[in-house]
Amino acid sequence: MAKLHLKELRKSYGTVDAIKGIDLTIEDGEFCVFVGPSGCGKSTLLRMIAGLEDITGGTFEIDGSRMNDIAPAKRGVAMVFQSYALYPHLSVYENIAFGLKVRKTSASEIKTRVGEAVTMLQLEKLTERYPRELSGGQRQRVAIGRAIVGQPQTFLFDEPLSNLDAELRVHMRTQISELHQRLKRTMIYVTHDQVEAMTLADKIVLLRDGRIEQVGTPHDLYERPQNLFAAQFIGAPKMNIFKLTDECQNLRESLKLDRNAHYFGIRPDSFEIVQPGEGILSGKVRLNEYLGNACLIHADIEGHDPVILEQPVGTKITTGTTISLNAKADNVHAFAKDGNRIA
Ligand SMILES: Nc1ncnc2c1ncn2[C@@H]1O[C@H](COP(=O)(O)OP(=O)(O)OP(=O)(O)O)[C@@H](O)[C@H]1O
Ligand SMILES: [Mg+2]
Repeated sequence: MAKLHLKELRKSYGTVDAIKGIDLTIEDGEFCVFVGPSGCGKSTLLRMIAGLEDITGGTFEIDGSRMNDIAPAKRGVAMVFQSYALYPHLSVYENIAFGLKVRKTSASEIKTRVGEAVTMLQLEKLTERYPRELSGGQRQRVAIGRAIVGQPQTFLFDEPLSNLDAELRVHMRTQISELHQRLKRTMIYVTHDQVEAMTLADKIVLLRDGRIEQVGTPHDLYERPQNLFAAQFIGAPKMNIFKLTDECQNLRESLKLDRNAHYFGIRPDSFEIVQPGEGILSGKVRLNEYLGNACLIHADIEGHDPVILEQPVGTKITTGTTISLNAKADNVHAFAKDGNRIA
């Protein structure tokens, strides 16, 4: 069991406030992803949970027990780093067994646990090799093996896949997902990649500048972003945002927008190209990018910022033509002047 509870958690480095009051509950067995732009405090928050950073203010509890001053080794957590942090002079087997040896685990128990981890991570043929003789993905699997054998209640991952190429990232992502399904342990995973966040998470915690912008399921964040930041962080290409000026009265009416709406947003795949003159917006096509499974059309919109829309392959659209656009029903997000979502 490991249910984590963060209350008003704060971290300052001298005058730098890195974490500015975080309230969060992570359920037992949940896969929780911390996502956000560089410098928003993801690693700091994870390291506070691991016990590698002192907590400046607030409380951190695991299953109701205060952890603020408990040593890292006594928290029941194991961390996997982006840099792998393997011992270069030890073999794969010795690397995975190292922590258990330090804790004076019996030889037979070490053999069983390392054997299980090696099988689970498909490292059987590599146990005698040294880290320098492994690929990045294999090294990362060894690092995960080292965490598994300690049988922690909570796994902490800090950008574990960032050093891998695109194909291997996708492969390792599914492996981590399967590992979670198999072990059913609480996992916290830090990434700045919104695709990793969407595909892995039960719960996404979107951070910016040391604060939480939104917590929810991937579905919540995509379908009901709570503010402009969340709206534009999740989803690629990002949501198109339009500012409603005094000249936009007809737009406000045709989209039935709240009178407090100051902005509205439409995702690239929520546009419909309609007959000339029949749409709510009109634009001139600047670029049509072919992706194989879809096309991304970049258009300059009269009176607004340029947009990107996703259309099925085969949509015949030439650069320079003018298109008329509508939003698919129920796919318009409205935001107030302060950037917050309007229900
Ligand atoms: N030891 C430190 N001393 C001073 N400031 C620090 C220290 N460690 C981190 N910070 C600051 O705290 C903030 C959060 O850093 P953190 O490493 O948690 O960001 P991050 O979200 O993990 O970013 P990235 O995606 O680049 O890894 C940053 O502004 C950083 O400069
Ligand atoms: Mg980081």
